[in-house]
Amino acid sequence: MSIEDEIRGKRTSSTKWRKYSQDVIPAWIADMDLGIAPVIAAELTQRIESGDLGYPCADIETNFLDAFADRYIGKFNTALDPRLGLVSTDVVQSIVISILTLTNPNEGVIVQTPIYPPFLQSVVDTGRRLRENPLLQTEGSWEMNFAELETLAREPDTTLLLLCSPHNPTGRVFTQTELVKVAEICSRNNVLVVADEIHCDIVFEPNYHIPFASISPEFASNVITMTSATKSFNIAGLRCSVVHFGSQDLKSRYEFYDSHVRGSISSLAMLAATAAWQKGDSWLKSTLSTLQSNRDLLTQFINNNHFGLKYNQPQGTYLAWLDFRDTRASESPQELLLNEARIALSPGPDFGKSGKGWARLNFATRPEILEEILRRIDATFS
Ligand SMILES: Cc1ncc(COP(=O)(O)O)c(C=O)c1O
Repeated sequence: MSIEDEIRGKRTSSTKWRKYSQDVIPAWIADMDLGIAPVIAAELTQRIESGDLGYPCADIETNFLDAFADRYIGKFNTALDPRLGLVSTDVVQSIVISILTLTNPNEGVIVQTPIYPPFLQSVVDTGRRLRENPLLQTEGSWEMNFAELETLAREPDTTLLLLCSPHNPTGRVFTQTELVKVAEICSRNNVLVVADEIHCDIVFEPNYHIPFASISPEFASNVITMTSATKSFNIAGLRCSVVHFGSQDLKSRYEFYDSHVRGSISSLAMLAATAAWQKGDSWLKSTLSTLQSNRDLLTQFINNNHFGLKYNQPQGTYLAWLDFRDTRASESPQELLLNEARIALSPGPDFGKSGKGWARLNFATRPEILEEILRRIDATFS
């Protein structure tokens, strides 16, 4: 079967593959086209085949939170108390609830743009003030603007920083030195930090993820950590994540919205995430190697292109933040590539004001499909 026929025939139930018409290659929303770990399939199949789908017993949630804490200590050397964790439907929900319960209307919330669009929406939708702290583009990388971060944090009404680490869409994996500076600034200015670490496992060597909660023992009680197995293990459709609080006080404030309002999580989702964290690492390792070689292929393509496309190679995530400003697609790259190349990227302006002329590409697909994406981009500009 040709790759074109394969793409036309590929109709999963995911929004990634359903949103656009059948000749379009979807490279937008952050799902992978790389299947799931056999341990997850086995866990789900076993529960379904045995008809074991009653209301979940408390152990399922406890085991899920223990698996999360075991992973943070085992993989990231960070001790988190599972009793200060909660299961949540998804990370975006936890962000919105954190803003609603841990800040007041009209207070300022800092986000580091360009940024995963729900960060922006959640601040605006909850009636808080958006304080943008754009990342600075340096030769080959992205850096935080600490001077400006300090200025924004010092504003008397600023109470929260939404940190995305690793960072979507730039793929930056922040270093200890950078995170220490963030903690110092936020500590000096009494700013809480929500650390969205959903991409913590998708990090390419020699980079490594450092949980923000591990950065400063003095500041750790002001950190709310969010993550999930859904991104690393490709199970976003199951809807399940974890939110962990640096103190009982933060947790109690968050629980102003009780579980009837927040919604309860399906047993299958918690069991799948637990199985992934406890037994999925060999699958994750081989998936990471595919992602890294895809990223390298993309880097090679961008280094060799003659039509002005640029990017800073991501250190983590399977997302590439592509700079089309010097190409003929500078006005609206997402639209032009959808219309002319039949590829669906995520539009840059969704990630903040600075996103005009940019688009985000999801390269978590089979290498043959990525090659076809790159062939189509090349043909569009050549
Ligand atoms: C940084 C970040 N946070 C959160 C999410 C979404 O997580 P959830 O589906 O759990 O809301 C994504 C999805 O791409 C993401 O990139």
